[in-house]
Amino acid sequence: MTHRITVSNQKGGVGKTTICLHLAVALADRGRDVLLIDLDPSAYLSVHLGLDEDYYEENENSLAYHLVEGSRSNPEGTILNSDEGVDVISSNYDMRGVEDRLSAERNREMRLKMFLDEVDEDYDYTLVDSPPSLGILYDNAILACRRVVIPIKDEDMSIISIHRALDEIDEIERAFRIDAEILAIVPNLVRPDGVAASTLEGLRNTDGVKEYLTPFEIRQRVAIRRAMKKRTTLYKHKPSCDQTENFEKLADLVVSKCEGDP
Ligand SMILES: Nc1ncnc2c1ncn2[C@@H]1O[C@H](COP(=O)(O)OP(=O)(O)O)[C@@H](O)[C@H]1O
Ligand SMILES: [Mg+2]
Repeated sequence: MTHRITVSNQKGGVGKTTICLHLAVALADRGRDVLLIDLDPSAYLSVHLGLDEDYYEENENSLAYHLVEGSRSNPEGTILNSDEGVDVISSNYDMRGVEDRLSAERNREMRLKMFLDEVDEDYDYTLVDSPPSLGILYDNAILACRRVVIPIKDEDMSIISIHRALDEIDEIERAFRIDAEILAIVPNLVRPDGVAASTLEGLRNTDGVKEYLTPFEIRQRVAIRRAMKKRTTLYKHKPSCDQTENFEKLADLVVSKCEGDP
């Protein structure tokens, strides 16, 4: 059975797509079969992987179609290969209308789970890149995966904003009577002049936060932004960058939490 994980945060620009991609590639490097799902209507992940060619074309075998109509035929036909060694189900223009179209539907929050149940059985990991807002798609990601990696950005690094992110997940757990596991809260875009080391140190000593916060943080590096802009990964663009090891550490943490220590 596959381990499903969503990289979620209701805020945009915190590094969800960047972390989702690097985590996926790091897991693939560890010999795992990985399926990446782009659940964001902006389709940044799909664009990044060069899989946005048909973005504006109506497609009866798109993720949006399967979420709205339910899977009728050939759900595996949505799976694309990428040059990064991971398989991908891309987003397209129709994803913009999915929340509206689902708003009055039965089981609207369960659509992604129902779809994934048909396609991801043979993968070791399914990673869902979540949209930057609360709503039906966000709920779908949590309900389908039940394991969450939460990136937080340097400027938002406070107990209040971490609690806000955790509260959203709590609310879904209560509303749908499920248990979701927070695999990691990952400080990202950490600048030398930004959040003081003491703030991070304080968070690492705060009950209710310290349990989830990774013992490493991903620093802001031009090489990461450039790698994403060049539609590649840091591993390929600048393997010597000091932050590759933090993506590796995240992959190791995810493996040990999902598969247990060897
Ligand atoms: N650690 C980092 N250092 C430098 N740039 C980063 C880092 N993490 C993300 N970025 C850049 O920040 C922007 C937002 O990241 P992205 O992953 O798209 O966030 P989200 O998916 O949460 O909206 C992108 O331009 C990305 O390349
Ligand atoms: Mg994104």
